[in-house]
Amino acid sequence: MLFGAGRAAELPDVVGALGARPFVCTGGQPARHAALIGLLPGARLVHPVTDEPTVEAARLAVTAARAHRADAVVAIGGGSVLDLGKAVAALLGNGTDPLDHLEVVGRGLPFAQPSAPFVAVPTTAGTGAEVTANAVLSVPSAGLKASLRGPSLLPRVALVDPLLTLGCPPAVTASSGLDALTQCLEPFVSSFANPVTDALASEGLRRAGRALRAAYTDGANVAARTDMALCSLLGGMSLANAKLGAVHGFAGVVGGMVDVPHGVACAALLVPVVELNIRAATEPGAAAAAGSGAGSGAGSGAGSVVLERYASAARLLTGRPEATVADLVSWLRETVAQLGVRGLGAFGLSAAHADEVAAKAAGASSMRGNPVALSTAQLREVFTAAL
Ligand SMILES: NC(=O)c1ccc[n+]([C@@H]2O[C@H](COP(=O)([O-])OP(=O)(O)OC[C@H]3O[C@@H](n4cnc5c(N)ncnc54)[C@H](O)[C@@H]3O)[C@@H](O)[C@H]2O)c1
Repeated sequence: MLFGAGRAAELPDVVGALGARPFVCTGGQPARHAALIGLLPGARLVHPVTDEPTVEAARLAVTAARAHRADAVVAIGGGSVLDLGKAVAALLGNGTDPLDHLEVVGRGLPFAQPSAPFVAVPTTAGTGAEVTANAVLSVPSAGLKASLRGPSLLPRVALVDPLLTLGCPPAVTASSGLDALTQCLEPFVSSFANPVTDALASEGLRRAGRALRAAYTDGANVAARTDMALCSLLGGMSLANAKLGAVHGFAGVVGGMVDVPHGVACAALLVPVVELNIRAATEPGAAAAAGSGAGSGAGSGAGSVVLERYASAARLLTGRPEATVADLVSWLRETVAQLGVRGLGAFGLSAAHADEVAAKAAGASSMRGNPVALSTAQLREVFTAAL
């Protein structure tokens, strides 16, 4: 991991050490990073990624990379670009269809061979995909998003330069920033949390608490952008080791059904999920979901461990030592409102979708990290509140 303002200047050397024919994925406006891309060595091919990636987009991109005889992959962009690049690097090494390896929807086969060397350069502060071992692809025919996953998907180098995020407009800062925050909060309360992920996630929460609103209000605030880039990186490391929770369990489902940006989906679901988890943890005999971290000791005491986690998160986000779980909900609600994120109803979803969404979300891999087990009725309730 290379982290710090101005470190993007090291990209040419990093790439030059890995390959002579890089396949360069970037966003729908390649001109945005033309200066950086122009410095890359060797015979490069630039591939624009215009949307959150689908299985078909990954197939087309790997075909283009093979035709180019690419020996390395570089992704400069948001999570969509990083995930597509990651998928291409994995498939270049394995030469197969994404559906052979995709979880949930595909065959889920492990990757037998290493990926092509892959360098991830995020330009949003949100997904942490530069340090995770999965690539999310959507499968429109199944109405779902699912992951390619395996240790070989970890990028060879994550080069995180907060200055690359300065151009993010407020809406992207809001949605990606709330995703980053959620990716620290969910592993922090996850039933798979451990002391290492606790250290990473709590530092991410502390930084999001002091910087998210500031980065949204003043996009040129380098200190706030740096905090959020670090929050995103820490969230990626946390989720890769402690899993996520119900927010991401739902986000993959709704993102596969309608065209809603991932971060917006997370933001809309955040308060309803936290409120319900707190309420469920307060009930006598609260049952922990699978795992052994925050929710450990299912039965007596499981709920109180979860509540203490949420109270710690409240203190980290608000910076107030006396903050309670109620303050956490208020702070999150205010932040989502202040950042102007719309509910899921603005994207064509309605109460009529509640049964379908709840059934699909129950089977999502992220749901396993949720600190309390939620019933189908409770999942329907969360979805309806997120509309
Ligand atoms: N692999 C993982 O671990 C992981 C984790 C979370 C989310 N994801 C995936 O990541 C994707 C979302 O990524 P995202 O939230 O970064 O959004 P994104 O990559 O889709 O980008 C959102 C918008 O911001 C623009 N943009 C990006 N950088 C910019 C910049 N510096 N200046 C101006 N505009 C910029 C993009 O062109 C795009 O229009 C989803 O597909 C989601 O499923 C992956």
